[in-house]
Amino acid sequence: SYYARMTAIGSYVPNRKLTNHDLEQMVDTSDEWIVQRTGIRERRISEPTQYTSDLCVAAVQDMMRRYNKSVQDVDMILVATSTADFPFPSTASIVQAKLGISPATGALDLSAACAGFVYALHTAHSFIASGLHRKILVIGADALSKITDYTDRTTCVLFGDAAGAVLIEREEREERHSFLSYHVTTEGEGGVHVYQTRIADRLHGVELQDTKLLVQNGREVFRWALRTVPEGVKAVVGKSGLTLENVDWFIPHSANLRIIEPLCERTGISMDRTLYSLEYFGNTSAASIPLALDLAVREQRVKPGDHALLYGFGSGLVQAGLVMRL
Ligand code: ACO
Repeated sequence: SYYARMTAIGSYVPNRKLTNHDLEQMVDTSDEWIVQRTGIRERRISEPTQYTSDLCVAAVQDMMRRYNKSVQDVDMILVATSTADFPFPSTASIVQAKLGISPATGALDLSAACAGFVYALHTAHSFIASGLHRKILVIGADALSKITDYTDRTTCVLFGDAAGAVLIEREEREERHSFLSYHVTTEGEGGVHVYQTRIADRLHGVELQDTKLLVQNGREVFRWALRTVPEGVKAVVGKSGLTLENVDWFIPHSANLRIIEPLCERTGISMDRTLYSLEYFGNTSAASIPLALDLAVREQRVKPGDHALLYGFGSGLVQAGLVMRL
């Protein structure tokens, strides 16, 4: 099996800010409630004609500029998203065209909601480990503002738009191999707690709200996350051969600070080793983990060789954890 390394990272958020004070004008809420219950202060919202594929392209351009890397010769493009521009063609194939990447590449979208980016890394690593691919562009991107119900105060305060991109390449030296362990779980019955309808409107015998917008029972998702993520975090660290003390950075999905704080308490990971992107960007779904990592890279808080624990969880209900060496 071949080794693989993350060799570059970039990210993008739209310019337009939506603050808690803006939301006070739109629904019955307050800055105080939102900050207290979620830790979120602002989010970025894409323009009406700016779609997930555009966020992807901007994140890749940021990565190329900062790392002096080309993507013309990648042999696979993976886009993790729940807000693809279209059901088909895939966002990945649109990105191939917009970036002028060689036709000698694969391109596919992955659907695993807020765990999508970690799943895409899992997939990219597997493709390289098998010897089938050598250089893979992995993007986590979502424009949840496109499917957010701005009359529903229980969801519209949470979500924002963003994209994060990384390059995964075949690596010769074991000590530079990035991917140490994974842990994935699925509780499909919980799919009824956070969804967007398109074709079907019943799931596991439950009638869904046929709004074509995101519907969430936040309380149920919250309880599930606190019940199950701490075990998952311990499991993935156990499989890596490291201990929780050896993990330099914890990067949980940026859903809500009121979820992240108890996760830290229950796993013994301190908040000052925890990276999140929600304060100024909200819950950006598949983009939240690469965005949090990239913010720390830009601030030079994380260094090559550091060990990071990425943990995505969300609609499905699915989870994907990964311990990696940066
Ligand atoms: N402003 C003011 N009041 C509000 C707001 C708001 N924006 N939203 C809800 N409330 C009210 C409710 O109506 C309720 O009032 P009531 O008691 O009179 O009925 C009260 O506040 C409490 O509501 P809860 O829903 O119980 O609030 P909770 O403390 O659970 O916080 C929240 C809600 C923030 C959504 C939380 O449940 C949460 O973060 N859940 C997890 C969401 C998540 O992580 N999703 C990730 C997956 S998403 C994906 O995959 C795309």
